[in-house]
Amino acid sequence: MNLQFTDEQQMMRKMVRDFAEKEVAPAVERMEEEDRFPVELLKKMGELGLMGIPIPEQYGGSEMDYTSYIIAIHEIAKVSATLGVILSVHTSVGTNPILYFGTEEQKQKYIPKLASGEYLGAFALTEPSAGSDAGSLKTRAEKQGGHYILNGSKVFITNGGEADTFIVFARTNRDEKNGKGVSAFIVERDTPGFSIGKAEKKMGLHGSSTVSLNFDQCQVPTSQLLGEEGEGFKIALANLNVGRIGIAAQSLGIAEAALEHAVAYAKEREQFGKSIAKHQGISFKLADMATDVEAAKLLVYQAASLQAAGEKCGKQASMAKLFASKAAVSTSIEAVQVHGGYGYTEDYAVERFFRDAKVCEIYEGTSEIQRIVISNHLIKG
Ligand code: CAA
Repeated sequence: MNLQFTDEQQMMRKMVRDFAEKEVAPAVERMEEEDRFPVELLKKMGELGLMGIPIPEQYGGSEMDYTSYIIAIHEIAKVSATLGVILSVHTSVGTNPILYFGTEEQKQKYIPKLASGEYLGAFALTEPSAGSDAGSLKTRAEKQGGHYILNGSKVFITNGGEADTFIVFARTNRDEKNGKGVSAFIVERDTPGFSIGKAEKKMGLHGSSTVSLNFDQCQVPTSQLLGEEGEGFKIALANLNVGRIGIAAQSLGIAEAALEHAVAYAKEREQFGKSIAKHQGISFKLADMATDVEAAKLLVYQAASLQAAGEKCGKQASMAKLFASKAAVSTSIEAVQVHGGYGYTEDYAVERFFRDAKVCEIYEGTSEIQRIVISNHLIKG
């Protein structure tokens, strides 16, 4: 495994770091306070080619390798975990399913718009009673003439309030249970019978959009079926398996930011006549945080480089997500601790890291689901 970045990957890291420091950092406070979706920043990301990093040039993407895409999420999430998840969901599960499973017509119709950032993508799998047990989803799609009629609802849809296209999973065969009988559809925002529901007020990731979706006799043309009828659950899992590297990279960004802020504060803050970094209680904490960040980095970039090389990476992606999300939570908790009372105020970024980190252990498969996936690889091979 070669974890040295190529010249192209280093250029990507520099470009994203510059963008994050100059354009994203000054906007974070407002995004936090107003909980407003960062439309302007996404427009700039589109102009920089960041909304379609791993997408082939023939579909309007930047055609860079998967590792470059993961570098971009990692670097952006260090400054704004909100933008990190928007980018990850848009690309990994909002665009890639069309690239991997779409017809040529579907690819031509949607991918150039998604890759340029003109369109924002979302992924609609989760339902009120189908979270970890995604295969038990109840949304139905019945074929009537030239349409599928969708009825049901979805919850916790990231990017949902702003997205233009949704990869929606619905049951086309009532008799088949679990993931079988589920099909995938590309649903456009203005489809008759489709509406955006409640926007969640969340603990963290302020500025990101998380909504419910309603399908009431929603008429989706049969041409919008993605893949074969009944193939939907496989499409969901195939894209989630890889998409989880994106959330792992987002987690890594949060963890690394928490570490950097904790080290800087510990060096500056003096108590008992010396900087708190010189007290072993704090320096050991920093050492453990740094070790977790480094281990998370290795797992994230190992999974990314496997995916970039076209190799199977489901187990490594789940390991990366499991470990990096845990590291994001533990380092941000410790970063608050290092900051003492100040860390509990909104004046210091570590408070935001702490709130942003938790969901990384929940979405795109909880940590418990990652353990199921990893142990299945070990047991079933
Ligand atoms: N590629 C192709 N096919 C795959 C696959 C892959 N990577 N992984 C699994 N499959 C296939 C399997 O071979 C199986 O096919 P057969 O029925 O023909 O054998 C089928 O898909 C079902 O697979 P499993 O039997 O492994 O599925 P399961 O029902 O046991 O469930 C699970 C597995 C891991 C628990 C799954 O339900 C799961 O991942 N749950 C978590 C759901 C989740 O991650 N939700 C996230 C929502 S999106 C989100 O959060 C985005 C956001 O906002 C940030």
